[in-house]
Amino acid sequence: MTAFGSVFMPEMAISWFDGSNWSPAETVPSDKLTLHPGAHVLHYSSTCFEGLKAFRHSDGTVKIFRIDQNVERMCQSSDILALPKLDKAAVKSMILELVRRFASEVPEAPGSMYIRPTHIGTEPCIGKAASPSLTSCFYVLLSPVGSYFSGDTSATLRLLLEENVMRCAPHMGVIKSGGNYASALPPTMKAKREHKIDQILFCPNGDVQETGAANAILIDGNQLITKALDDSFLHGITRNSILTLARDLGMDVQERNLTVTELLERAAKPGCEIALSGTAAVLTPVGTLVYQGEEYKVGNGGVGATTVKLRTALNDIQWGRAEDIHGWLTDI
Ligand SMILES: Cc1ncc(COP(=O)(O)O)c(C=O)c1O
Repeated sequence: MTAFGSVFMPEMAISWFDGSNWSPAETVPSDKLTLHPGAHVLHYSSTCFEGLKAFRHSDGTVKIFRIDQNVERMCQSSDILALPKLDKAAVKSMILELVRRFASEVPEAPGSMYIRPTHIGTEPCIGKAASPSLTSCFYVLLSPVGSYFSGDTSATLRLLLEENVMRCAPHMGVIKSGGNYASALPPTMKAKREHKIDQILFCPNGDVQETGAANAILIDGNQLITKALDDSFLHGITRNSILTLARDLGMDVQERNLTVTELLERAAKPGCEIALSGTAAVLTPVGTLVYQGEEYKVGNGGVGATTVKLRTALNDIQWGRAEDIHGWLTDI
């Protein structure tokens, strides 16, 4: 099996901002990009990206899930990073046009086409550590994918609860920016080595936040609890979708702060579930927590029934097996 995200469609959509105007969108080979070695992004990380998916329905049509939310978040990330302003309509149409071009390559369920819009600062100036890039490049890559984690739907993850290290600087949390992932990498590598975990669940000062690439959700009976939105973590579009589906099912959805103490107390109860939500992760169950050298099983350590129910409800909409009552799918 090839690694998630390592296969690309041969072409990408691209547009350049020269300081005054965006160039007309073009489709070019996706295996090269020419940048000045002094480009702002390569030194000062003026970069943000998105991750969304296109799904093939059984009637052969292809739909993109919640594209407007991803375009919105992309533009917000660009604005916070002081990158040149993106045009929302242009970003959306570049994505739609590229997916249309490669529609026949969108895998059947359970696969999908992962879409990776990216915006980078290109100004060749190494003296701009404290000022923004005046030029930039926006491009969209496509990568056909299967499942992000093992693909085994009966597998559960093992997480380290980390209270002393932050995933990223708190004012950067809402941005999907490369620097945040670089920031999470050293503690994650150390934790994998020392504790044989899959991911760190970052809990700065005991506040349960998110993992390196997904939001965390606690399910206890009819209650679903997840951190309330603030600037410190990524506002996942899957998180929002799962909360909506949970409310549709009549669950008591609580967006509020959750401490490590409460998480551990609840996790030990039979029937309790923890899951990670994200475009790539979908809704992946957590079986074990590692905290201060001790291991804690979540519920019975297996895959929780509510996690499966919510994941199925989400997948059924994405693949057209259930009615799209919230209007989340866009035709290409
Ligand atoms: C840090 C982080 N948190 C949360 C998420 C989940 O966001 P979404 O559901 O929009 O994919 C992601 C990734 O996709 C992420 O990288």
